[in-house]
Amino acid sequence: MADHAHNLRAQTGPGRPFGVITRGTTGHNRLRRCDRWLRYNPQVQSLLRSAERPLALDVGYGASHTTTVEWARWLRQITPTVEVVGLEINPERVLPPRDGVRFELGGFELAGYSPHLVRAFNVLRQYDVADVPTVWETVCSRLAPGGFFIEGTCDELGRRTTWVLLDATGPRSLHLSWDPADIAPPSDVAERLPKVLIHRNVPGEKIHALLNDADAAWSNAAGWAPHGPRVRWAHAHEEMRVRGWPIHPVRRRLRDCTLAVDWAAVDPEL
Ligand SMILES: C[S@@+](CC[C@H](N)C(=O)[O-])C[C@H]1O[C@@H](n2cnc3c(N)ncnc32)[C@H](O)[C@@H]1O
Repeated sequence: MADHAHNLRAQTGPGRPFGVITRGTTGHNRLRRCDRWLRYNPQVQSLLRSAERPLALDVGYGASHTTTVEWARWLRQITPTVEVVGLEINPERVLPPRDGVRFELGGFELAGYSPHLVRAFNVLRQYDVADVPTVWETVCSRLAPGGFFIEGTCDELGRRTTWVLLDATGPRSLHLSWDPADIAPPSDVAERLPKVLIHRNVPGEKIHALLNDADAAWSNAAGWAPHGPRVRWAHAHEEMRVRGWPIHPVRRRLRDCTLAVDWAAVDPEL
């Protein structure tokens, strides 16, 4: 991993895609939990609907077009005019256009684009944690006004998914989303935390306290287990709010279990 940090610095330069080539693993429907959340996020909806030419970039789509084409289908439900481009740093993975999506060579410099939305899923996972601030700053400084950057991680089948939502000012919130039938307790999602947090899940760190409290709330909600994991999590979620965590409300009934908090509540640097 230290080699990646070295490579990242070595590859930075005018005219070169910014980043390093990593494994291209991807899969059908792998990013569905984040896609579902994004589709119904009011800020994203108003951003894309108010833009004259809404543009979304999927950075590091991997060895297949799959997740980018799926993303485009979700985004077109918000506004059919959205332009979706996949960027890959590995020239051998740049694909012909497909289902209305273009694929181009590019990295965190965003190939000269100024997009409203940028997604990079399972990309920073293979970088050194020391690279994260530079990458976040590079992407966020190139967003269109009001734009968002979603930087996340998930397991192979997308059952455990986490992401950070950023804007031009930096990270805004952390989002955890999991398959109710797949994990118990909630801290099981920790194995897929974003790069910036994965090594911080130790006593004394805020992310550890958050996951600990989530497990305690889950345990306290055990009486709801006969009603299924979604109902049990809804009660645990409410307990997290009462405990004072700055939790974002769940606006609609979701098939996923989710937990979203203000970034300040988990920021390892604060
Ligand atoms: C594990 S795949 C992720 C594929 C897909 N996003 C997913 O989550 O299923 C990571 C891909 O990111 C690419 N990559 C790594 N750094 C990049 C960068 N700075 N810009 C664009 N692509 C990058 C790698 O070449 C690799 O194909």
